[in-house]
Amino acid sequence: MRETVLCKDTSIAAEMLRRGQLVAFPTETVYGLGADATNSESVAGIFESKQRPAFDPLIVHVTDIVAAQQVVVSFSEVAQKVSAEFWPGPLTLVLPKRPQISDLVTAGLPGVGLRIPNHPLAIELLQEVGRPVAAPSANPFGGVSPTTAGHVMDGLGGRIDGILDGGPCEVGLESTVLSLMTDQPTLLRPGGLPVEDIEAVIGAVQRAVSDPTRDEAAQPAPGMLSRHYAPATTLQTIAVHDSAVPAEGKRCGLLTHGKHPYSKEFEQIEQLSGNSDLRTCAANFFAALRSLDSANLDVIIARSFPDTGLGIALNDRLHRAAFV
Ligand code: TXA
Ligand code: MG
Repeated sequence: MRETVLCKDTSIAAEMLRRGQLVAFPTETVYGLGADATNSESVAGIFESKQRPAFDPLIVHVTDIVAAQQVVVSFSEVAQKVSAEFWPGPLTLVLPKRPQISDLVTAGLPGVGLRIPNHPLAIELLQEVGRPVAAPSANPFGGVSPTTAGHVMDGLGGRIDGILDGGPCEVGLESTVLSLMTDQPTLLRPGGLPVEDIEAVIGAVQRAVSDPTRDEAAQPAPGMLSRHYAPATTLQTIAVHDSAVPAEGKRCGLLTHGKHPYSKEFEQIEQLSGNSDLRTCAANFFAALRSLDSANLDVIIARSFPDTGLGIALNDRLHRAAFV
């Protein structure tokens, strides 16, 4: 166990990162667990503290497009178009990496995932570190992503060196991951930037589809695990318009997006938004899932989201969380 320092000062956090320590920091999507991306030992520490398998690559965070161009071999026209439109923001682009980015960061793949976060503290921190920072979501591998400093402490306290507290994350869902490694842009993970918004700028985007019957090595991209983002409590999903019926004799919780007619049947109800606004749902999603997970329930029933905009990413997280 080590002491995990909680701070609000970016210069302290930056100094720790420069020394090779592991520091979680806020972004607009979720909290990331940062390490100096040019220091292999620190990067190895991320995998160790999260117990993350080495086949799953890390996103590299930079301050601006010039810094992004410095870690890739080429920045295609499509990359320029899409980054000009959506960076800083919840979009990760996978582009051909330069050798200086360690194979540990990319899990031996030829592409590196890059992102400019849209959060003033994150940008200040990255500027003070002066180097690219590798950061996965700051939670133990496979678990629910953290959207507050308290969530990070709950999951990784004692295993990392520091947490920069920037309050709750505004978007609440991880970035959308888009691979530009081939001529055909491919969506590897739906996320906080709706894929329709990307398509409005660069045209059709191919969807990588994971196959739950095959193991990780056979998936079209790393990180497409069937079970992920999962609470410890059993989670069952219901269709968007199905009525939620608690299982008899069981302590049930309900996760739902809009207005609901239920009250007494459930031990706890988390209503993500009064009017099913998907932005509000996304911002509250992981915190609500954590709250239900700590309520000593037998089962969490979760209503699926409308399959459009941010609902696509929300459904992706729900279905992976429910996978057994
Ligand atoms: O919003 C986010 O993306 C947050 C914040 C901290 O930036 N980060 C995050 O990281 O969610 P993580 O590691 O939990 O998820 C990153 C996903 C993984 O599914 C990983 O496999 C994929 O991005 N990824 C990262 N680098 C990649 C690469 N070089 N090639 C293909 N996929 C990559
Ligand atoms: Mg993650």
